[in-house]
Amino acid sequence: MRITIFGTGYVGLVTGTCLAEAGHEVMCMDVDSNKINGLMNGIVPIYEPGLEALVKQNVAEERLLFTADPAEAVGFGTLQFIAVGTPPDEDGSADLKYVLSVADTIAEHMQEYKLIIDKSTVPVGTADRVSEAIAQRLHQRDVDIPFDVCSNPEFLKEGSAVEDFSQGARIVIGCDSPRVEPLMRECYAPYNRRQEKLMFMDIRSAELTKYAANAMLATKISFMNEISNLAERLGADVENVRRGIGSDPRIGYSFIYPGCGYGGSCFPKDVQALARTATDVGYEAQLLNAVESVNYRQKASLFTKLSQALDGDLEGKTIAVWGLAFKPNTDDMREAPSRELMEAIWAAGGKVRAYDPEAMQECRRLYGERDDLALAKRRDDTLEGADALVICTEWKAFRTVDFRRLREQLTTPAIIDGRNLFNPESVRAAGLLYFAVGRADSLRIPLSGGDSASAPLSRIGQDGPSVA
Ligand code: UDX
Repeated sequence: MRITIFGTGYVGLVTGTCLAEAGHEVMCMDVDSNKINGLMNGIVPIYEPGLEALVKQNVAEERLLFTADPAEAVGFGTLQFIAVGTPPDEDGSADLKYVLSVADTIAEHMQEYKLIIDKSTVPVGTADRVSEAIAQRLHQRDVDIPFDVCSNPEFLKEGSAVEDFSQGARIVIGCDSPRVEPLMRECYAPYNRRQEKLMFMDIRSAELTKYAANAMLATKISFMNEISNLAERLGADVENVRRGIGSDPRIGYSFIYPGCGYGGSCFPKDVQALARTATDVGYEAQLLNAVESVNYRQKASLFTKLSQALDGDLEGKTIAVWGLAFKPNTDDMREAPSRELMEAIWAAGGKVRAYDPEAMQECRRLYGERDDLALAKRRDDTLEGADALVICTEWKAFRTVDFRRLREQLTTPAIIDGRNLFNPESVRAAGLLYFAVGRADSLRIPLSGGDSASAPLSRIGQDGPSVA
């Protein structure tokens, strides 16, 4: 089957490469000709495990083609995937200018039937707008060429996108024409052999499914973060609570890890966009708004804890930061908790010495050269003489630490761990202060309960380390 993909960003490139790997002939189009030239030579502009090798292999086998020429792209495939960006507008709604401009390009050049597939995450009703845009342009051209528009949202996770593409739980397709189903079945046949994964439904339900999935996952995370804040104030350990509730199959273990807030290109944007859509149709999405505000507060909690550990004085202090990406196995720093943290440290007069296995180049791109940002070559190069350590991302390489050595290297022996990587007892046994998420002694406030319940920090002070 011949397939065209518009947009060689994260979604477009993974989709195009995986469909080529499955045996289709795929042409990816992008308006950025530098990017296209790089891709033709196997240069992949994003870090995604397994992707570069697949691009190179499929380019070599001439199943994966790249072009910056819109007419060539439209002429190539019967299937035309739209996988361009939908950045948030100032009011949180998704900006459709790129999607609609691709629709216009397709209509401008098409000479025969095309199936246009919305792959980008787009607000409910977008397929109708794409249809209108195409019909309008065909009318202007004074031609009568048949076409269909369908919705086929992606559910890829960064860091495991290639695997997710071939092993995803479902392939959702929203359509309103009998011509669509056989074409989409042929497209996804390689992934639909063992069990029926294709779910056909009406277009608006498919569009809403994507938002509902991300909003549900974001809700689980914000819910757990809320429980972690309660646990800190009640003297409970959220890790025990997590195991306790995850064992109930109705709840399950996945996506209930408390942390320093969700980031990335999807959850923050999609929760906001869905809340905005709700407002547009006269409905106040109270739960979605709460999910968003809990996350905002959670991201800020890293700095609150750091500031408490340093008695509110960050002026001239150097903070070691481990992890810049919004999650492991990616170099993506969009909406990453590390950014809120670093910006708050700088605003308070502190300096950052950071390390991330993949995202340092991205960090430089975002923040440039500045006196208050040093990027260390190795994880432990961040530590010597630093005033405290903050962990923002749960990279595997951060899980094994010589706490006694770390105790000697840090001026204030404090670890602020936004991902609950360590056993608090082991950390504290080495003489370190340990501020994790939702665990005992993670916050410098009195426990509730009236009596002489001691402030966690003062307890640490009695039991173990003293702040240098
Ligand atoms: C997400 C969806 O999972 C995916 O289906 C959709 O297509 C795009 O959005 P992604 O943004 O790549 O994928 O990351 P994901 O692995 O889902 O993590 C999102 C954020 O949630 C990260 O910041 C992560 O640290 C956080 N998270 C995740 C938690 O804080 N706790 C958890 O239990 C799980």
